Amino acid sequence: MVSKLDLSSFGHLKPSVMKLLNLGKFLSGNYNKSWGFQTFNSLLLGVSLICFFIVIGSSYFYMSPAVETVVENIGNVNANVNSNSNKSSDFLSNSCNVFDGKWVVDESYPLYNASQCPFSERGFNCLANGRRDKGYLKWRWNPKNCDIPRFDVNVILEMLRGKRIVFVGDSLSRTQWESMICMLMTGVDSKSVYEVNGNQITKQIRYLGVRFRSFNFTVEFYRSVFLVQPGPVRRRAPKRVKTVLKLDQLDDISKEWIDSDILIFNSGHWWTTTKIFDMGCYFQIGGRMKLGMSISNAFRTALATWRSWVESEVNPNRTRVFFRTFESTHWSSGARQNCKVTKQPLSKISRRQKSSISDAIIDAVNNISIPVTLLHVTPMSAFRSDAHVGAWSDNPSVPDCSHWCLPGVPDMWNELLFSFLLPY
Ligand SMILES: *[C@@H]1O[C@H](CO)[C@@H](O)[C@H](O)[C@H]1NC(C)=O
Ligand SMILES: *[C@@H]1O[C@H](CO)[C@@H](O)[C@H](O)[C@H]1NC(C)=O
Ligand SMILES: *[C@@H]1O[C@H](CO)[C@@H](O)[C@H](O)[C@H]1NC(C)=O
Ligand SMILES: *[C@@H]1O[C@H](CO)[C@@H](O)[C@H](O)[C@H]1NC(C)=O
Ligand SMILES: *[C@@H]1O[C@H](CO)[C@@H](O)[C@H](O)[C@H]1NC(C)=O
Repeated sequence: MVSKLDLSSFGHLKPSVMKLLNLGKFLSGNYNKSWGFQTFNSLLLGVSLICFFIVIGSSYFYMSPAVETVVENIGNVNANVNSNSNKSSDFLSNSCNVFDGKWVVDESYPLYNASQCPFSERGFNCLANGRRDKGYLKWRWNPKNCDIPRFDVNVILEMLRGKRIVFVGDSLSRTQWESMICMLMTGVDSKSVYEVNGNQITKQIRYLGVRFRSFNFTVEFYRSVFLVQPGPVRRRAPKRVKTVLKLDQLDDISKEWIDSDILIFNSGHWWTTTKIFDMGCYFQIGGRMKLGMSISNAFRTALATWRSWVESEVNPNRTRVFFRTFESTHWSSGARQNCKVTKQPLSKISRRQKSSISDAIIDAVNNISIPVTLLHVTPMSAFRSDAHVGAWSDNPSVPDCSHWCLPGVPDMWNELLFSFLLPY
């Protein structure tokens, strides 16, 4: 048991609060690192799946009531939090939804300089790629009925000491992973932070693990865009079928995700006709092709598989699980050709707030028998038509209204994530 999050350090809290803090124990479980990268790497080599050759052209509960209730001491623990007693008491009465709010201008942002962060990929560093207006860097998410603690890198680094943080999903997950690393690197000597296999970030890479040596934790990313297992086609399948997605099996690499302290999923951006049917990819359940199955039914089936996997494999006493909902995109036409990045966020959101992908994720998370925190970023991201990569990527000829500039919106997802993990 090595954890600086020892409950005794909260001795100043009232006994009732202490009781609630027991939930914080999830962070102090034993850390059993016993998995081989070698095996894993050879596994990766073996898997050459058509689904993963598709180049992305254009190319997240309510928190546990217990944790919510524990913010009483927010003012003492973090002096940076605005003291508005009514807001805090809303937290206490359990009515605060941190995802309901608005963006406000805050001159203290951004939290880091991407050009000084070796783990921020060039494609997301909009400033370095020629973006001139800087207003987009200055927004902070302000929940309606509560405050989220200001990002204090020293507090967070200490909280993560000895932990294993695992992101699983598509490139939007990679963005959040990069964002988290860059946020945390502002608190350490950059020489003490390294990718465990010496790998560079690429779009197709299946595993990246960044170690913070002085705090003995890793922040890892597993690329699994569908979460379920792609596979080869059986003989005698119709000609148009080039590859299948086994909706009843979680990705082969999922065993690598189990032994983690914080596990963050996303999926959704690949569940489209262009990335599935147009690529000759069809669905399979129990060894049988489901040629007529719609993408939305398939996604719900995949999420049910994810749900039973989490229920059977994840130890809720050890691992805190999150699922991020669909990250809003801002294409102005369905064909993904028109991408106009604005200078200001939208003042109102309408249609973009709803997403069938997010609805399916919300249903899956609400129906799971162990605590999973929903990072419902869909509405908050929907305001941010000003924060996409646009033409300021590593390939300006392919406009991008899906991915986000770094620093930017994904930093706020991480601030929300940390707010759920802080023990007060
Ligand atoms: C808090 O709520 C009370 C009653 O609801 C109200 O009278 C008071 O003005 C509020 N205080 C602040 C700081 O909003
Ligand atoms: C970020 O860092 C780079 C390289 O050190 C520097 O040239 C640039 O001015 C910095 N940008 C900001 C906004 O501070
Ligand atoms: C690093 O963290 C792991 C997992 O919590 C722990 O087993 C190990 O003893 C720690 N190492 C050091 C040097 O603190
Ligand atoms: C989690 O902790 C509870 C209470 O300490 C215990 O009853 C339960 O068996 C534990 N679950 C697992 C999967 O270890
Ligand atoms: C919820 O889970 C149960 C089994 O755990 C399942 O039978 C049911 O269909 C699920 N409902 C939804 C809406 O997914």
